[in-house]
Amino acid sequence: MASLSSKTALITGCNRGIGKAILEKLASLGCNVICATRNQTPEFEEFTLELSTKFDVSIQHIYFDLTDEESIKTSLNQLIKTKPTIDILINNAGIAYGGIMLMTPLKKIKEVFQVNYFSQILITQYIAKIMTKQKSGVIINMSSVMAMENFAGGSAYAASKAAVATFTRTTANELAPFNIRVNAIAPGLIETEMGDAMDQKTQELFNTRSDFKRRGTPQEVADLIAFLVSDEAKYITGQIIRIDGGM
Ligand SMILES: NC(=O)c1ccc[n+]([C@@H]2O[C@H](COP(=O)([O-])OP(=O)(O)OC[C@H]3O[C@@H](n4cnc5c(N)ncnc54)[C@H](OP(=O)(O)O)[C@@H]3O)[C@@H](O)[C@H]2O)c1
Repeated sequence: MASLSSKTALITGCNRGIGKAILEKLASLGCNVICATRNQTPEFEEFTLELSTKFDVSIQHIYFDLTDEESIKTSLNQLIKTKPTIDILINNAGIAYGGIMLMTPLKKIKEVFQVNYFSQILITQYIAKIMTKQKSGVIINMSSVMAMENFAGGSAYAASKAAVATFTRTTANELAPFNIRVNAIAPGLIETEMGDAMDQKTQELFNTRSDFKRRGTPQEVADLIAFLVSDEAKYITGQIIRIDGGM
């Protein structure tokens, strides 16, 4: 796999789940990382310190809550004052919700869209400005196969991930003149707390539909992302790439 040494990636939600696997993978390839998480915890700071020593990379921390636009702006404005180079943005953090449409309050749908869609646009606007000045960059957004398959209960989560897919295609088109690539990943069911929290019936449906009859691992998703952010994928942009064991 191509080295990412001398690159810097900003990854949201990398304290657990898929984001943490991406953090480990990119660091192992020599990539410096800016971890954007909701909370500061000694356990995660210790983990990143070990990672930084093990792979001789710089790991920095910034904090914001995706439900709070002002906290995103404050944190990113502070980061921008340090004039960072950011080569890679991974808009990973997200929340799931599976209530059926007739039982889902509009407030809940707006909350899911705030975290999974609107906040991702805001972060991308900030970081893409840095990338346009650099005339290079790679952005990966987190969509889902739920955006493409028909499942009951998708009016909040699946719809927000469909919006992410469209946002990915349109920003890829707008940012290509600046040599910035934008792609999205659409995972099937992955072994994380979010995957575990899905109701049993939907989990079984995913396992039945997947050719491999199992969930994916966060490391398998991280491996795909490591390829997509590398120069080996330099002709790939505007794509929604499924990683679902053959659903
Ligand atoms: N797991 C799957 O089966 C699956 C399938 C398709 C797509 N995805 C997508 O992949 C991404 C990662 O999923 P995952 O399975 O790793 O989920 P996860 O284990 O539940 O982790 C979610 C991450 O997002 C962060 N986050 C959630 N709400 C936040 C907020 N308001 N502000 C800041 N950070 C917030 C969490 O931070 P805290 O620790 O502070 O809560 C955590 O770091 C998500 O976008 C998800 O929709 C997952």
